[in-house]
Amino acid sequence: MIDVKNIISKVKSKFTNENRLIHTLNVAKKTQELIIQHDLEVNLQKAYVAGLLHDYAKEEIFERFREIVQKYNLDESILQQPFSILHALFGPYIIKEELDFEDEEIFQAITYHPIGHSNMSLLDEVLFLADFISDDRTYDICIEVREIAKKNFSKAVAKKLEYLVTNIPNPHQETIKAYEKYKQYL
Ligand SMILES: [Fe+2]
Ligand SMILES: [Fe+2]
Repeated sequence: MIDVKNIISKVKSKFTNENRLIHTLNVAKKTQELIIQHDLEVNLQKAYVAGLLHDYAKEEIFERFREIVQKYNLDESILQQPFSILHALFGPYIIKEELDFEDEEIFQAITYHPIGHSNMSLLDEVLFLADFISDDRTYDICIEVREIAKKNFSKAVAKKLEYLVTNIPNPHQETIKAYEKYKQYL
C-alpha cells in the first residue's frame, strides 16, 4: 500500500520552486486523465505516484549525482549526460534514500520519462506523455500533442518522440530507437 499523502507532503517540502510543484501535480493529474480517457490497463495510483515523483531529483546539485555513482558503483560515464536526463536517472536512487519507497515499475517510468525507450510499458508511456502535455506546458507542440492525446494515445506518444528526434540536438539513442518503433502510429 502506497502512502500517497506522505509522498505529496515529501514532494512539497522537497521543492523550493513553486512552478515545479505545480508541474508535478499537473503531471500526476494528467496521468489519471490519460488512463481513464483511453481505458488503459495501468494502475491509477502507481501512475499518480510516478507523476508526483518523476522530477524528484530536479533540484539536486551535480555533486549529489557524483556521490551516488560512487556509492552504488555505477559507471562514471553516466555523469556526462545532460541534466535533463540525469535528474531522471538518479531520481529513483534519491527517492529510495529519502522516502524509503521502492517500486520498480514506477522507477522505470521515472528513469525514462525524458527520453522514452523502445520497450516502454503502458505506465512508461503514460508518464512520458503526461510530462509533455501537462496543463502547465504552453509550447505550441505541447498544445498540439495535448489535443492529439484526447483522441489517439499512441499517436500522441509517437508525436513526442518525433519532436525529440527532430528538435533536440543529439537525441538519445534510446529515443531514436523508440521513434523507429512508434512512428507507425503517426
Ligand atoms: Fe523531468
Ligand atoms: Fe517533468
